[in-house]
Amino acid sequence: MSVVVLISGRGSNLQAILDAGLPVAAVISNVAGAGGLDIAARRGVPGLVVKHGDFPTREAFEAVLAAEIERFSPRLLAYAGFMRIVTAGFVERFAGRTLNVHPSLLPAFTGLHTHERALAAGVKLHGCSVHFVTAELDAGPIVIQAAVRVLPGDNVETLAARVLRQEHVVYPRALRWFLEGRLVIDNGRVSVKGGDAQFVYSDLP
Ligand code: GRF
Repeated sequence: MSVVVLISGRGSNLQAILDAGLPVAAVISNVAGAGGLDIAARRGVPGLVVKHGDFPTREAFEAVLAAEIERFSPRLLAYAGFMRIVTAGFVERFAGRTLNVHPSLLPAFTGLHTHERALAAGVKLHGCSVHFVTAELDAGPIVIQAAVRVLPGDNVETLAARVLRQEHVVYPRALRWFLEGRLVIDNGRVSVKGGDAQFVYSDLP
């Protein structure tokens, strides 16, 4: 009943997942030297690098990545700051058992630079979403969302930090629900058996 976590960078969500005591079998990064690999090493969790640049095609990269993931026979695949767009074929291979955390209140602000775009749009609430990964970018069924205020003096850094704190709250919670077999998808909508709240509002500055 373990999780394989895919990362590309610093790994603060990975850290939150490990701090929550979730059973992480391995961490795989597509970027050598990603900070999250050090976090994995400190916890004695196997860390692997599969560099996309080492492969001639996306499919060749994904074939090796999928084989590495499957060595650990995970119940669940968790993208945690994994900044690589994958093909529909890769998504299909792990369909229904891949979660991602995205730094916006989806369906607003899919893709990159979410905090800049939220500030530019003048939204008063921003946040993050944990969703099932489907072939369409950042558009899979939503498991849980956390909302935070956008404050008048915010810049990208302050807003990103406020959202990130909530990512660290909701992502481990969503992964645990999945591992406990409590997530039900009906018509693209996710509910949690037991009725736990799928929404967090934090008014921390
Ligand atoms: C997070 O904001 C995540 O939502 C986004 O990339 C960032 C990764 O941060 N996809 P970290 O590597 O988990 O610290």
